[in-house]
Amino acid sequence: MSRISKDTVERIKQMAQVLDEESIANSFNISVDAVRDILLGKYEPEEDDSESQGINKIQVVERTRFVRNKTVAAISPGGGQGKTTILTALAMQSALTIPSQNPIVILDFADIPKVCTYMGIMGISALAECEDFIPTITRWPVKLKTTDGQIYEELTLRHPDIDNLHILPGVVFTSEWLQITADQLLKIIEDCQRVFALVIIDMPSDRKMFEAVLSIADAVLMVIKDDYPSIEGVAQMHPYLEHHKVTEKLIPVLNRYNGNIEDTKKMLNVFDMEIGFEALIPELKDIHEHMMISNRHPVISMPDTDFVKEISHLVRIVCPDWVITTKKEETSVFNFKGMLKTLFG
Ligand SMILES: Nc1ncnc2c1ncn2[C@@H]1O[C@H](COP(=O)(O)OP(=O)(O)OP(=O)(O)O)[C@@H](O)[C@H]1O
Ligand SMILES: [Mg+2]
Repeated sequence: MSRISKDTVERIKQMAQVLDEESIANSFNISVDAVRDILLGKYEPEEDDSESQGINKIQVVERTRFVRNKTVAAISPGGGQGKTTILTALAMQSALTIPSQNPIVILDFADIPKVCTYMGIMGISALAECEDFIPTITRWPVKLKTTDGQIYEELTLRHPDIDNLHILPGVVFTSEWLQITADQLLKIIEDCQRVFALVIIDMPSDRKMFEAVLSIADAVLMVIKDDYPSIEGVAQMHPYLEHHKVTEKLIPVLNRYNGNIEDTKKMLNVFDMEIGFEALIPELKDIHEHMMISNRHPVISMPDTDFVKEISHLVRIVCPDWVITTKKEETSVFNFKGMLKTLFG
């Protein structure tokens, strides 16, 4: 019989230090009674065999992820795995979901910025045409005026369809990176952390800047494509991530998931790895074509697709403290079998 893992139980206990039972229940999609039983120590998790076998496990949660304004970045074992696709969708979905409707920002620190394009709102030609009015990294002032309004109105763009979503479109031309320093990026992040409920960052590739941003992030999505070279890449990256203490804040995400987790597990086994993926994002066919034709991102125009549903799930993982009310529990009687069923299907 499937059991709740020790990791999950520990995670629930950790979260209980800062969150109420209902928020925790929502983020794990289990009943409040189930959470309560775990907290009362009525549920004994099984010892995890894999730990004693020395398998590399990647599924760790850092407490800060639940307690302050969050700063979320993404890394991948190699390029083109879906970081920008997922971060962009995450930014949009979280702005639509945040209960307080507080503002959220996405900072495009990529050398060749694509966040605006991936949101379907603006291409490089439009940026170049209105260069004087478009906020960029290089225009961020050393000293802000006294009001936070400057960040909202002058230094970031507001998404045309989602009022509480702001975007720092990055650079217009890649050559601007010659003048940008890691300190500048950190200053932008710190200013944004002060006024936005969530700061999402598409990473720069320069190693020094990359590591500076990595160190300041509360949560780091590790976006992996569902294929052998990508999984091999995770094994290659692992010592680097441990060196930079990133494993403590990783949220593993499997992108272009084809519905067969067993194959993925087999590939992981080759490298003695076990990864607790927190989101399984399926392929959304012709995503760019769709945006070019409809001028709308799938998060807005195709909310019923599995892709968007899984992005919503990722929002709950990244921000479990947002009380996102799903279906209210109708029964107050704790049902152990029911809880397992909810957890493991
Ligand atoms: N789940 C998905 N469904 C459909 N297309 C996807 C999906 N994930 C990624 N893609 C496509 O794969 C390509 C690469 O994705 P993306 O640009 O997000 O990767 P990246 O990790 O940000 O790349 P880079 O390392 O170059 O920044 C894009 O064309 C994107 O549209
Ligand atoms: Mg990218």
